[in-house]
Amino acid sequence: MNRLELVRNEIDTILLNRENINERPEGYIHLYGVAQNCSLLAIKRKLDIEISTIIGLLHDIYTYKFEYVKDHALLGATEAENLLRDLELFSEEEIEIIRTAISHHSDKKMIHDPYSELLKDADVLQNSLYNTSFEVKHRKRLKQAYRELGIKIKLKKKDGKKKDLDEEQNEEEVDMSHSLQKK
Ligand SMILES: [Fe+2]
Repeated sequence: MNRLELVRNEIDTILLNRENINERPEGYIHLYGVAQNCSLLAIKRKLDIEISTIIGLLHDIYTYKFEYVKDHALLGATEAENLLRDLELFSEEEIEIIRTAISHHSDKKMIHDPYSELLKDADVLQNSLYNTSFEVKHRKRLKQAYRELGIKIKLKKKDGKKKDLDEEQNEEEVDMSHSLQKK
């Protein structure tokens, strides 16, 4: 079996063992969503696609395995490292790339190495795409990530206004709340 599928199996086992059955779908949606965004960004940025996808799959491992969110980036980096070592299929260099990216992923305002940045962007994109009508965090990073994919987005202002004045003049921008349903 290929390495990515083996890591997927490990993650599936963790998600299936979550005590609260109602919380299981959210774990799949988030980890698989972030992993796919990682693949997409890796293709765009010419980074290692397999390693990038694995970073996405493992990034919140601590949260889902131990139901513990505080410091989950640092704790998860060690947890992922242990999992990869146990599989005995990854080089030290690969483990270090994955470990580092996971350890940085809560620091969304800072800029780190390319794989850390890929994960942070993939994470904010997944949160945005889950439901584009929800309020989003890390707006600057999110706008930049969409822009890299050729999409200029309008984000609702925190005060409820739909857009900035200068954004209003830009016709290329995509309204994230676009819907056939009248609001
Ligand atoms: Fe995440």
